[in-house]
Amino acid sequence: MDSLKIEGGVPLKGRITVSGAKNAALPLMAAGLATSGTLQLENVPRLVDTQSMEVLLANHGMEVSRDGLNVSIGGAVTNIDAPYELVRKMRASVLVLGPLLARYGAARVSLPGGCAIGTRPVDLHIRAMQALGAVVELADGYIQARAPGGLKGGRVVFPNVSVGATENAMIAASLAKGTSELVNVAREPEISDLAECLNAMGARITGHGSDTIMIEGVDELGDATHRVIPDRIEAGTWAIAAAITGGDLFLEHARRRHLDALLDVIVSTGATVDVREDGIQVTASGRPRAVDITTDPFPGFPTDLQAQFMALMCVAEGSSRISETVFENRFMHVPELARMGADIQVDGGVALVRGQKSLTPAPVMATDLRASVSLVLAALATEGVSEVSRIYHLDRGYSDLEDKLGSCGARLHRINGKDG
Ligand code: EPZ
Repeated sequence: MDSLKIEGGVPLKGRITVSGAKNAALPLMAAGLATSGTLQLENVPRLVDTQSMEVLLANHGMEVSRDGLNVSIGGAVTNIDAPYELVRKMRASVLVLGPLLARYGAARVSLPGGCAIGTRPVDLHIRAMQALGAVVELADGYIQARAPGGLKGGRVVFPNVSVGATENAMIAASLAKGTSELVNVAREPEISDLAECLNAMGARITGHGSDTIMIEGVDELGDATHRVIPDRIEAGTWAIAAAITGGDLFLEHARRRHLDALLDVIVSTGATVDVREDGIQVTASGRPRAVDITTDPFPGFPTDLQAQFMALMCVAEGSSRISETVFENRFMHVPELARMGADIQVDGGVALVRGQKSLTPAPVMATDLRASVSLVLAALATEGVSEVSRIYHLDRGYSDLEDKLGSCGARLHRINGKDG
């Protein structure tokens, strides 16, 4: 397995072009299953996860082709099964459930299973499909769903906020007979991006971005061309990279309103944030001050930036209390940061980080996507040579990472693992 060798202690300075958002591209690609025409997506990042979604859509019989950052999805489904060997590689595969049910009246989707950050249940996805008239059974490790007469508009009330379940419900309700009201929905920018794309395909969705979405079902969805929004989590990761290395980075395409919670905290640590025409300049000024955070669904502090922010707090002046409220086990990066000398005490969903002047270089191991980039940030800030192993996790969510960071002065290179 590959690893990254990083010689840290160099302030990152320069410009990084932020790629299209992984967490927008995946539901947008799944929405391609629901169209009777062709969906042309632009700015689709080249990632292991988007590649997995291309394979999954082709497995269903769709015609999927990629030309650079453009992905075209068309044709018709010939197989409603999403098999375990594909779904276990990427949990977002569950997003085919809504479109398959809506367009073909049936779906057989493997339960995704858990992952490093938690059990990741799909009960809210299932409840949403049932509220829209589907009959759903769990058998042999699969979600077996059918809606022989088609889905019917209904009221879907989410007991807690779920990004993926909101997305599945939006796509399904777009083709249901009648009107649907989705209550207590996720408000992430990726939700709005999906709604805009579905509306371009002929759906009638309003309220996206608020906590209630109204959808008037239509008979079919047609052709559309849609550009994927920039990746706010990638942009936030590089903002923290500037802060932790004492650097100065321009994040091209980053949008302030997608990152308010993070950027407000970054300013509180002492860095400066300048919003420019097409991006954001983040400039560090000396050692960061410690700041407490609590993760929350959008517009709160993103759980997907918690690990990265913890790396910053490991070298902050003072102590930071980091509370993770979205996932039950999203502190896998803690023992690895501790190997680099970080002082972190975990008690349930709260980590207390006592900032050190500096960390010490060490070999560390990635466990999940955002934990792995947190270790890269810590290594970039630390004098000496560190090695981050199992970086296949990184390749799921960050395209061209070595080039992007290397062009800003980072000294890092990939080592091909002995065992492949
Ligand atoms: C999406 O995952 C993102 N993935 C995650 O990003 C992100 O961390 C998460 O939203 C929260 O923002 C994609 O968009 C592909 P949820 P999702 O449903 O939809 C519980 C990354 O690093 N829950 O909002 O799976 C769940 O266990 C990834 O890019 C249920 O209980 O997240 C969690 O505690 C990691 N039942 C909470 O809700 C359900 O049916 C939020 O999960 C579904 C979720």
